[in-house]
Amino acid sequence: MITNKKTNQKPVVRVWDLPTRLFHWALATCVIGAIITVNVGGLYMEWHIRFGIAALCLVIFRIVWGFIGSRYARFTQFVKGPKGIFAYLKGSNPSKPDAGHNAIGGWSVMFMLGVIGAQAFTGLFSTDDIMTQGPLNAYVSNATAETFTSFHHLLSNAVIALIVVHLLAITIYALRGKRLVPPMITGNVQSSELAPNTPSAQDDIKHRMLAFVLISVLCAGGVYLWVLGNALPASF
Ligand code: HEM
Ligand code: HEM
Repeated sequence: MITNKKTNQKPVVRVWDLPTRLFHWALATCVIGAIITVNVGGLYMEWHIRFGIAALCLVIFRIVWGFIGSRYARFTQFVKGPKGIFAYLKGSNPSKPDAGHNAIGGWSVMFMLGVIGAQAFTGLFSTDDIMTQGPLNAYVSNATAETFTSFHHLLSNAVIALIVVHLLAITIYALRGKRLVPPMITGNVQSSELAPNTPSAQDDIKHRMLAFVLISVLCAGGVYLWVLGNALPASF
Protein backbone atom coordinates (compact mmCIF):
# COMPACT_ATOMS: atom_id res chain seq x y z
CA MET A 1 0.00 0.00 0.00
CA ILE A 2 1.35 3.43 -0.81
CA THR A 3 1.18 6.16 1.79
CA ASN A 4 -0.51 9.51 1.31
CA LYS A 5 1.55 11.85 -0.83
CA LYS A 6 1.92 15.60 -0.71
CA THR A 7 1.03 17.58 -3.79
CA ASN A 8 1.01 21.36 -3.49
CA GLN A 9 1.20 20.91 0.28
CA LYS A 10 -2.22 19.22 0.30
CA PRO A 11 -2.31 15.58 1.41
CA VAL A 12 -4.00 13.32 -1.08
CA VAL A 13 -5.20 9.73 -1.18
CA ARG A 14 -4.57 7.54 -4.24
CA VAL A 15 -8.01 6.24 -5.20
CA TRP A 16 -7.73 5.13 -8.84
CA ASP A 17 -4.66 3.06 -9.68
CA LEU A 18 -2.92 3.69 -13.01
CA PRO A 19 -4.32 0.53 -14.71
CA THR A 20 -7.92 1.56 -13.84
CA ARG A 21 -7.35 5.09 -15.18
CA LEU A 22 -5.73 3.86 -18.40
CA PHE A 23 -8.52 1.30 -18.77
CA HIS A 24 -11.15 4.04 -18.42
CA TRP A 25 -9.77 6.45 -21.02
CA ALA A 26 -8.92 3.61 -23.42
CA LEU A 27 -12.47 2.20 -23.12
CA ALA A 28 -13.99 5.66 -23.70
CA THR A 29 -11.79 6.10 -26.82
CA CYS A 30 -12.66 2.65 -28.19
CA VAL A 31 -16.42 2.92 -27.62
CA ILE A 32 -16.60 6.43 -29.10
CA GLY A 33 -14.28 5.29 -31.93
CA ALA A 34 -16.51 2.27 -32.66
CA ILE A 35 -19.61 4.48 -32.80
CA ILE A 36 -18.02 7.14 -35.03
CA THR A 37 -16.49 4.63 -37.46
CA VAL A 38 -19.68 2.60 -37.88
CA ASN A 39 -21.50 5.82 -38.73
CA VAL A 40 -18.89 6.86 -41.30
CA GLY A 41 -19.08 3.30 -42.71
CA GLY A 42 -17.30 2.08 -45.85
CA LEU A 43 -13.65 1.29 -45.30
CA TYR A 44 -13.87 2.66 -41.75
CA MET A 45 -15.76 -0.52 -40.79
CA GLU A 46 -12.31 -2.07 -40.46
CA TRP A 47 -11.64 0.42 -37.69
CA HIS A 48 -15.04 -0.36 -36.19
CA ILE A 49 -13.96 -3.97 -35.80
CA ARG A 50 -10.56 -2.92 -34.35
CA PHE A 51 -12.10 -0.54 -31.81
CA GLY A 52 -14.78 -3.12 -30.98
CA ILE A 53 -12.31 -5.96 -30.34
CA ALA A 54 -10.17 -3.60 -28.22
CA ALA A 55 -13.30 -2.63 -26.20
CA LEU A 56 -14.02 -6.32 -25.60
CA CYS A 57 -10.45 -6.93 -24.35
CA LEU A 58 -10.71 -3.89 -22.07
CA VAL A 59 -14.00 -5.05 -20.55
CA ILE A 60 -12.51 -8.50 -19.85
CA PHE A 61 -9.47 -6.76 -18.34
CA ARG A 62 -11.71 -4.70 -16.03
CA ILE A 63 -13.70 -7.74 -14.92
CA VAL A 64 -10.50 -9.57 -13.92
CA TRP A 65 -9.13 -6.36 -12.37
CA GLY A 66 -12.32 -6.20 -10.32
CA PHE A 67 -11.05 -9.31 -8.51
CA ILE A 68 -7.29 -8.78 -8.43
CA GLY A 69 -6.90 -5.01 -8.76
CA SER A 70 -6.22 -2.47 -6.03
CA ARG A 71 -8.60 -1.59 -3.18
CA TYR A 72 -11.08 0.77 -4.88
CA ALA A 73 -11.03 -1.08 -8.21
CA ARG A 74 -12.32 -4.27 -6.58
CA PHE A 75 -15.97 -5.25 -6.98
CA THR A 76 -16.15 -6.19 -3.29
CA GLN A 77 -15.47 -2.52 -2.55
CA PHE A 78 -18.31 -1.02 -4.56
CA VAL A 79 -20.88 -3.68 -5.50
CA LYS A 80 -23.37 -3.39 -2.66
CA GLY A 81 -26.50 -5.38 -1.81
CA PRO A 82 -29.90 -3.81 -1.00
CA LYS A 83 -28.75 -2.97 2.56
CA GLY A 84 -25.71 -1.02 1.34
CA ILE A 85 -27.74 0.79 -1.33
CA PHE A 86 -30.41 1.71 1.22
CA ALA A 87 -27.76 2.94 3.68
CA TYR A 88 -26.15 5.04 0.94
CA LEU A 89 -29.50 6.55 -0.07
CA LYS A 90 -30.22 7.37 3.57
CA GLY A 91 -26.79 8.99 3.70
CA SER A 92 -25.62 7.06 6.73
CA ASN A 93 -22.66 4.79 6.05
CA PRO A 94 -19.94 6.16 8.27
CA SER A 95 -17.96 2.93 8.65
CA LYS A 96 -17.14 2.82 4.91
CA PRO A 97 -14.52 5.13 3.42
CA ASP A 98 -15.95 7.81 1.21
CA ALA A 99 -13.67 6.90 -1.70
CA GLY A 100 -14.22 5.01 -4.93
CA HIS A 101 -17.60 4.39 -6.54
CA ASN A 102 -20.63 4.89 -4.33
CA ALA A 103 -23.37 2.23 -4.07
CA ILE A 104 -25.37 3.58 -7.04
CA GLY A 105 -22.28 4.44 -9.12
CA GLY A 106 -20.97 0.92 -8.48
CA TRP A 107 -24.02 -0.70 -10.05
CA SER A 108 -23.90 1.72 -12.98
CA VAL A 109 -20.28 0.61 -13.58
CA MET A 110 -21.37 -3.06 -13.56
CA PHE A 111 -24.22 -2.25 -15.92
CA MET A 112 -21.92 -0.38 -18.32
CA LEU A 113 -19.40 -3.23 -18.32
CA GLY A 114 -22.20 -5.76 -18.95
CA VAL A 115 -23.85 -3.85 -21.79
CA ILE A 116 -20.59 -2.81 -23.51
CA GLY A 117 -19.23 -6.36 -23.10
CA ALA A 118 -22.42 -7.84 -24.61
CA GLN A 119 -22.29 -5.27 -27.43
CA ALA A 120 -18.73 -6.20 -28.33
CA PHE A 121 -19.40 -9.94 -27.92
CA THR A 122 -22.43 -9.90 -30.25
CA GLY A 123 -20.34 -7.92 -32.76
CA LEU A 124 -18.02 -10.92 -33.14
CA PHE A 125 -20.86 -12.83 -34.85
CA SER A 126 -22.55 -9.90 -36.65
CA THR A 127 -22.63 -9.16 -40.34
CA ASP A 128 -23.90 -6.31 -42.51
CA ASP A 129 -24.47 -8.85 -45.32
CA ILE A 130 -22.28 -6.69 -47.57
CA MET A 131 -18.60 -6.68 -46.78
CA THR A 132 -18.16 -6.52 -43.00
CA GLN A 133 -18.51 -9.41 -40.62
CA GLY A 134 -17.29 -10.21 -37.16
CA PRO A 135 -14.41 -12.74 -36.99
CA LEU A 136 -16.63 -15.51 -35.58
CA ASN A 137 -19.53 -14.92 -37.97
CA ALA A 138 -18.50 -17.80 -40.25
CA TYR A 139 -18.59 -20.24 -37.34
CA VAL A 140 -22.33 -19.91 -36.67
CA SER A 141 -25.43 -20.55 -38.82
CA ASN A 142 -27.06 -17.70 -40.76
CA ALA A 143 -30.01 -17.71 -38.34
CA THR A 144 -27.71 -17.42 -35.29
CA ALA A 145 -25.70 -14.65 -36.99
CA GLU A 146 -28.94 -12.80 -37.70
CA THR A 147 -29.95 -13.04 -34.04
CA PHE A 148 -26.55 -11.74 -32.88
CA THR A 149 -26.71 -8.91 -35.45
CA SER A 150 -30.20 -7.88 -34.20
CA PHE A 151 -28.90 -7.82 -30.60
CA HIS A 152 -25.85 -5.83 -31.77
CA HIS A 153 -28.20 -3.21 -33.28
CA LEU A 154 -30.50 -3.15 -30.24
CA LEU A 155 -27.69 -2.94 -27.69
CA SER A 156 -25.99 -0.08 -29.53
CA ASN A 157 -28.91 2.15 -28.45
CA ALA A 158 -28.43 1.03 -24.84
CA VAL A 159 -24.69 1.80 -25.05
CA ILE A 160 -25.37 5.32 -26.32
CA ALA A 161 -28.06 5.89 -23.65
CA LEU A 162 -25.67 4.70 -20.91
CA ILE A 163 -22.94 7.06 -22.09
CA VAL A 164 -25.38 9.99 -22.05
CA VAL A 165 -26.52 9.08 -18.49
CA HIS A 166 -22.85 8.61 -17.42
CA LEU A 167 -21.87 12.06 -18.66
CA LEU A 168 -25.03 13.65 -17.22
CA ALA A 169 -24.34 12.10 -13.78
CA ILE A 170 -20.75 13.41 -13.83
CA THR A 171 -22.00 16.89 -14.84
CA ILE A 172 -24.62 16.89 -12.05
CA TYR A 173 -21.95 15.92 -9.48
CA ALA A 174 -19.71 18.71 -10.82
CA LEU A 175 -22.53 21.27 -10.53
CA ARG A 176 -22.98 20.16 -6.89
CA GLY A 177 -19.28 20.76 -6.28
CA LYS A 178 -18.00 17.16 -6.43
CA ARG A 179 -15.44 16.98 -9.23
CA LEU A 180 -15.03 13.33 -10.23
CA VAL A 181 -13.02 13.83 -13.42
CA PRO A 182 -9.66 15.04 -11.97
CA PRO A 183 -9.28 11.86 -9.82
CA MET A 184 -9.90 9.73 -12.94
CA ILE A 185 -6.92 11.59 -14.49
CA THR A 186 -4.48 11.95 -11.58
CA GLY A 187 -5.73 9.04 -9.46
CA ASN A 188 -5.82 11.27 -6.37
CA VAL A 189 -8.47 12.80 -4.14
CA GLN A 190 -7.65 15.36 -1.47
CA SER A 191 -7.84 13.68 1.92
CA SER A 192 -9.88 16.57 3.27
CA GLU A 193 -12.70 15.44 0.95
CA LEU A 194 -12.69 11.90 2.36
CA ALA A 195 -13.53 10.23 5.64
CA PRO A 196 -10.63 10.45 8.14
CA ASN A 197 -7.86 7.85 7.69
CA THR A 198 -9.13 6.69 4.28
CA PRO A 199 -6.39 4.37 3.04
CA SER A 200 -4.66 4.75 -0.35
CA ALA A 201 -5.06 2.14 -3.08
CA GLN A 202 -2.03 0.01 -3.95
CA ASP A 203 -0.62 1.53 -7.13
CA ASP A 204 2.92 0.19 -7.00
CA ILE A 205 5.10 -1.36 -9.70
CA LYS A 206 3.98 -4.89 -8.72
CA HIS A 207 0.31 -4.06 -9.38
CA ARG A 208 1.14 -2.22 -12.58
CA MET A 209 3.20 -5.15 -13.89
CA LEU A 210 0.34 -7.52 -13.08
CA ALA A 211 -2.03 -5.31 -15.10
CA PHE A 212 0.50 -5.11 -17.94
CA VAL A 213 0.81 -8.92 -18.15
CA LEU A 214 -2.98 -9.29 -18.08
CA ILE A 215 -3.63 -6.70 -20.80
CA SER A 216 -0.80 -8.16 -22.94
CA VAL A 217 -2.41 -11.62 -22.84
CA LEU A 218 -5.79 -10.09 -23.73
CA CYS A 219 -4.23 -8.04 -26.56
CA ALA A 220 -2.75 -11.25 -27.99
CA GLY A 221 -6.27 -12.74 -27.97
CA GLY A 222 -7.61 -9.58 -29.63
CA VAL A 223 -4.97 -9.68 -32.37
CA TYR A 224 -5.79 -13.37 -32.93
CA LEU A 225 -9.47 -12.47 -33.44
CA TRP A 226 -8.52 -9.66 -35.81
CA VAL A 227 -6.28 -11.97 -37.89
CA LEU A 228 -9.01 -14.64 -37.89
CA GLY A 229 -11.51 -12.06 -39.22
CA ASN A 230 -9.11 -10.92 -41.94
CA ALA A 231 -8.77 -14.48 -43.21
CA LEU A 232 -12.53 -14.63 -43.90
CA PRO A 233 -13.93 -13.89 -47.37
CA ALA A 234 -16.35 -10.91 -47.67
CA SER A 235 -19.93 -11.84 -46.82
CA PHE A 236 -21.50 -10.87 -50.18
C1 HEM B 1 -17.89 6.51 -24.10
C2 HEM B 1 -17.36 6.87 -23.17
C3 HEM B 1 -17.22 6.34 -21.75
C4 HEM B 1 -17.38 5.11 -21.21
C5 HEM B 1 -17.77 3.84 -21.92
C6 HEM B 1 -17.09 5.23 -19.79
C7 HEM B 1 -17.12 4.17 -18.90
C8 HEM B 1 -16.79 4.27 -17.56
C9 HEM B 1 -16.61 3.16 -16.67
C10 HEM B 1 -16.75 1.69 -17.06
C11 HEM B 1 -16.29 3.66 -15.45
C12 HEM B 1 -15.94 2.86 -14.21
C13 HEM B 1 -14.43 2.95 -14.03
C14 HEM B 1 -13.87 1.78 -13.27
O1 HEM B 1 -14.14 1.58 -12.09
O2 HEM B 1 -13.13 1.03 -13.89
C15 HEM B 1 -16.28 5.09 -15.56
C16 HEM B 1 -16.01 5.97 -14.52
C17 HEM B 1 -15.85 7.31 -14.70
N1 HEM B 1 -15.93 8.01 -15.88
FE1 HEM B 1 -16.36 7.28 -17.67
N2 HEM B 1 -16.76 6.53 -19.51
C18 HEM B 1 -16.83 7.24 -20.69
C19 HEM B 1 -16.56 8.56 -20.87
C20 HEM B 1 -16.22 9.42 -19.88
C21 HEM B 1 -15.90 10.82 -20.07
C22 HEM B 1 -15.88 11.54 -21.42
C23 HEM B 1 -15.63 11.32 -18.84
C24 HEM B 1 -15.26 12.71 -18.43
C25 HEM B 1 -15.69 13.77 -18.96
C26 HEM B 1 -15.78 10.24 -17.88
C27 HEM B 1 -15.57 10.36 -16.54
C28 HEM B 1 -15.65 9.33 -15.62
C29 HEM B 1 -15.43 9.49 -14.21
C30 HEM B 1 -15.12 10.79 -13.49
C31 HEM B 1 -15.57 8.24 -13.63
C32 HEM B 1 -15.46 7.91 -12.14
C33 HEM B 1 -16.81 8.03 -11.52
C34 HEM B 1 -16.74 7.82 -10.03
O3 HEM B 1 -15.95 8.51 -9.38
O4 HEM B 1 -17.48 6.98 -9.52
N3 HEM B 1 -16.13 9.11 -18.55
N4 HEM B 1 -16.57 5.44 -16.87
C1 HEM C 1 -18.36 -1.57 -27.77
C2 HEM C 1 -18.13 -1.91 -28.95
C3 HEM C 1 -19.06 -1.74 -30.12
C4 HEM C 1 -19.99 -0.76 -30.39
C5 HEM C 1 -20.36 0.44 -29.52
C6 HEM C 1 -20.61 -1.08 -31.66
C7 HEM C 1 -21.62 -0.35 -32.27
C8 HEM C 1 -22.19 -0.66 -33.49
C9 HEM C 1 -23.24 0.07 -34.12
C10 HEM C 1 -23.86 1.35 -33.55
C11 HEM C 1 -23.55 -0.54 -35.30
C12 HEM C 1 -24.58 -0.10 -36.31
C13 HEM C 1 -25.88 -0.75 -35.97
C14 HEM C 1 -26.96 -0.24 -36.86
O1 HEM C 1 -26.72 -0.05 -38.06
O2 HEM C 1 -28.07 -0.04 -36.32
C15 HEM C 1 -22.67 -1.67 -35.44
C16 HEM C 1 -22.65 -2.52 -36.52
C17 HEM C 1 -21.74 -3.55 -36.67
N1 HEM C 1 -20.76 -3.92 -35.78
FE1 HEM C 1 -20.40 -3.10 -33.97
N2 HEM C 1 -20.03 -2.23 -32.14
C18 HEM C 1 -19.08 -2.65 -31.24
C19 HEM C 1 -18.27 -3.75 -31.34
C20 HEM C 1 -18.18 -4.56 -32.46
C21 HEM C 1 -17.28 -5.69 -32.59
C22 HEM C 1 -16.30 -6.18 -31.51
C23 HEM C 1 -17.48 -6.21 -33.83
C24 HEM C 1 -16.78 -7.36 -34.48
C25 HEM C 1 -15.59 -7.77 -34.16
C26 HEM C 1 -18.52 -5.44 -34.47
C27 HEM C 1 -19.03 -5.67 -35.74
C28 HEM C 1 -20.08 -5.00 -36.31
C29 HEM C 1 -20.63 -5.34 -37.61
C30 HEM C 1 -20.17 -6.46 -38.53
C31 HEM C 1 -21.68 -4.42 -37.83
C32 HEM C 1 -22.58 -4.34 -39.06
C33 HEM C 1 -23.92 -4.92 -38.75
C34 HEM C 1 -24.96 -4.30 -39.66
O3 HEM C 1 -24.76 -3.22 -40.17
O4 HEM C 1 -26.00 -4.92 -39.80
N3 HEM C 1 -18.93 -4.43 -33.60
N4 HEM C 1 -21.86 -1.73 -34.31
